Amino acid sequence: MNRSKRIRQFHRWTSIVFTVTVLIDTVAAVTLEAPPTWVFLLPVPPVLLLMATGLYMFALPYTAKRRVRSA
Ligand code: HEM
Repeated sequence: MNRSKRIRQFHRWTSIVFTVTVLIDTVAAVTLEAPPTWVFLLPVPPVLLLMATGLYMFALPYTAKRRVRSA
């Protein structure tokens, strides 16, 4: 599997992890009187990974065109 395929796969699975953390946050906010702060920080690592891999995928078509043109 090439690099951009692996990054797309990673983005896809990280989106599941992110969704689960948001659901955990929602349940904690509804059921607990004073949820610990760390619960609300759970989505931060996956969303940062999503942002990095998402921006990489966003840039791919433009950098690919440049690679072809300069070849
Ligand atoms: C945080 C910033 C994010 C950026 C910049 C971003 C960017 C992108 C880009 C550029 C693509 C490729 C679109 C294409 O096919 O051309 C993509 C695909 C995708 N994104 Fe994101 N994304 C972000 C966050 C998220 C989040 C929060 C979720 C869901 C919880 C998500 C789920 C997905 C999925 C499921 C795909 C399709 C992956 C595949 O084709 O296998 N992304 N994203």
